[in-house]
Formats: sequence, C-alpha cells, structure tokens
Amino acid sequence: MSFQPDFAWGAATSAYQIEGAAALDGRKPSVWDRFCRQPGRVFEGHTGDVACDHYHRFREDIGLMKEIGLKAYRFSLSWSRVLPDGTGAINEKGLAFYDQLVDGLLEAGIDPWVTFFHWDYPLALQTRGGWLNDESSKWFAEYVQVVTDRLSDRVSHWMTLNEPQCFIGLGHRSGEHAPGDRMEMPHVLRGVHNALLAHGRAVQVIRASANIAPKIGWAPTGDVAVPLTRSEADVNAARDAYWSIEDGSVWNQAWWSDPVIKGAYPQNGLEAYGEAVPPHTDAEMAIISQPLDFYGMNLYNGHLVKAGADGKPEHVMRDPGVPTSHFQWRVTPEALYWGPKWVHERYGLPIAITENGLANQDWVAIDGAVHDPQRIDYVSRYVRELRRAASEGVSVLGYFHWTLMDNFEWAEGYRFRFGLVHVDFTTQQRTLKDSAYWYRDVIHSNGANI
Ligand code: NOJ
Repeated sequence: MSFQPDFAWGAATSAYQIEGAAALDGRKPSVWDRFCRQPGRVFEGHTGDVACDHYHRFREDIGLMKEIGLKAYRFSLSWSRVLPDGTGAINEKGLAFYDQLVDGLLEAGIDPWVTFFHWDYPLALQTRGGWLNDESSKWFAEYVQVVTDRLSDRVSHWMTLNEPQCFIGLGHRSGEHAPGDRMEMPHVLRGVHNALLAHGRAVQVIRASANIAPKIGWAPTGDVAVPLTRSEADVNAARDAYWSIEDGSVWNQAWWSDPVIKGAYPQNGLEAYGEAVPPHTDAEMAIISQPLDFYGMNLYNGHLVKAGADGKPEHVMRDPGVPTSHFQWRVTPEALYWGPKWVHERYGLPIAITENGLANQDWVAIDGAVHDPQRIDYVSRYVRELRRAASEGVSVLGYFHWTLMDNFEWAEGYRFRFGLVHVDFTTQQRTLKDSAYWYRDVIHSNGANI
C-alpha cells in the first residue's frame, strides 16, 4: 500500500525562522524581534535578524528543494513585511519578495502552500493589544485580503494559523514565547476567541476573492494520546484523553477545533473553564466555523494512555531510556496513526501532516557529509504509521517534513537542528544531509520504499 498518487511530499518553514533581513526593504518589527532582545528570553540571545538569510538566498534554496524533489513547499509570510504596521500602508517590496518566491517555486514544479500566520505578530498591533484586542480578527482579515489579492492567481493551498495552541499558550499563558505574557484564563480565552475569529474571517476572505479555486486549512498542534494496547477499553480511554480539556491550560484540541469545524465550543470545555469563557454570539460562531478543505496537523509527540479501573484515562509513564529528540521529546511514531485517526473520526476532513520531524545536533562530518541516521529512522517510523492510517480509510493529502533547513528554533535559538539541509550559520553554507537524499528516494517511490 502506498500513498495517493498526488500525495504532497513536502517540507515546511516559517518566515521569522529563515528569512532574516529583519529590518530591510520596509519590514518593521514583529513581537519576536522585540522578544529576542529581551535578556534571558532566547538561548544565548540568538535572534532571527539574519537566520538563514533566505530573503537573499531563496533562489538557491528553491534549487535545494528541487534537488530533493519536493512536490510542495509550506512557508509562511511575514505579516509585518507585507503591512509593516499590521494594517494600513502596504509594503510593495515585501509583497514583491513573496511574488518572486511563488514564481520561483512554480517554475521549479513545486506547489506553494502558504501559511498566513506563523507567530511573528506585528509589533505595532501588539502595542494595541494584539490578540486581546477585539478588533484583531479584522486586522488579520485585512492582511489576508492584501495577500490573497496578490498571490491567489498562482497559489491554491492556504493555511490560516499555525499552532494557535502555541502562540496563545506559550505566548500569552506561560510566557515562554513572544510576546512573553502570563495572563489569567479569562484573558487567554479572549485571545483564543479572537484568534478563532481571525481564522474564520480569513477563510471568508480567501473564499470570496481567490482567483484560482482555493484549498483552505489550518495547522493546529498537540500531543497525541496513544492507547497503550489495542484493547477497546484502552482505545476509548485514549480517545477521551485526546479530546479532554483541563482548566488553566489551552493544550487541547477540542476547544480550538470544535468551534472551527462544528461551530460550537465543546461542553467539556465550557464546564472546565467555567466563568473564564468569554461571551460569544451565534453570529461569531458562524464566522469561526467556515467550511474547510483540509485539516493540517503539526505532529511530533504522543503520550501513552490506558483505561484505569473505572475505564477513565490514565497516563502511563514511559520506560526509562526511551528514545528522545534533542528537545527531549519522546519518539512516538504511533502519534502519526492515532492523531489522524482521532481527527478523522470526529471531523471527517482530509488531513495533511503540515509538520513532523526530529530535533538533532547534526554537524558536517570529516568526509564533508552530514550523517543523520536518527532522522531517517524517525521519519521512516512515523510515515509508516501515517500510511497505516491511510490504509484504514483516513484521507491523507500530504506530509511536510519540519523542516527544509536548520533554522531559528524560537526560544531555543539555533541550538536544535530540524533540517533536511544543514546550515552553517557563520558562512550560510548549505549542505544536504543524508536524510535529504533519503527523502528524495522516498518521494520518488511515493513512500513505497519505507
Ligand atoms: C512547531 C512550529 O510550528 C515550528 O515553528 C517549530 O520550529 C517546530 N514545531 C519545532 O519545534
């Protein structure tokens, strides 16, 4: 069994993590530019000022994608490069960059999958309250309109928000990411509501004005509950765990995805969050729940769950010494089986794996190559599980490896490498890793060789 014939074998990146040129050609700061300058926020004070200098080297980078044989490339746009103040004046040079990028991809036969928001919120809007401002979804819609008008004659795949759980949960609840806020739940849930509205309004804009028929999705994330055994009791317990909602935390699927797909906040969340839930009207829920063409999933982690004596989910500790990434994330290939399964069961939408990959500490070896057997093994194991889900009827459109090339890993700076391509951040030299050559063969065989 292999993947569907037009399977989107791809790689993903995001603007702030690779572009650099942070203060060039009219781009103004995002919350990350400020956050990186605050002492103690980012590992060794690293910033995205230069990153992979992709802004200047995108043609070379498209060449690398071509060498790997990518069918699709997922990237995000820097909102403050397009609209330096977040709203109002359009920066022609910023738009021209994305124009050229899209043209270059299409010339290389690579399908562009565009993400509108991958965390680099315009600083000018943050000073007006950011996601906490009830106007914020309209600001986002304005930005989406500008981009759709410009790129939708060539781009068909769009994703609205990347990992909203992270930019709200890490950005506004735990403070580990920009803008670094630690807020109480009523404020946090207000931010969630506005982000969901932004998603909905964006879908409305794209549907109403795209030139070529759009395929619209989004890219949430989350730990996947994996049943300890295949027993019915464990499977049911894992499913319950996956859709559960805990007060004080936005690390869940249902609070985000039920409104988007089903048009209502889930009952278990209303109970868990209680009075912290913001007021919301039917009209707002209708805006949030626009029809989608696919459900993107950024999947890395899973945790084991079994049925306790009363059938309720119980978290199972892993054995000591279980394989982990350099991030200390547990290697859990079954996440790529159970995650798509759970989402397929509940929402029935086609799924794209919009991110999956391994943090490592690869370096250029004495023979000039970059040997990363763990990454090859990791991806093999995960993709096999994805194929198992597909063979059982889950519609899977594509797999986007995170990431194309080593880049700025947010609060971790440059110390973890996720790329198929090694980047020397002193010289900007790119070197294809063993995994890139291996991935080329995977793509060539449509996954049959895994
Ligand atoms: C999630 C994010 O979308 C991406 O920006 C990040 O680099 C990877 N996962 C790895 O942490």
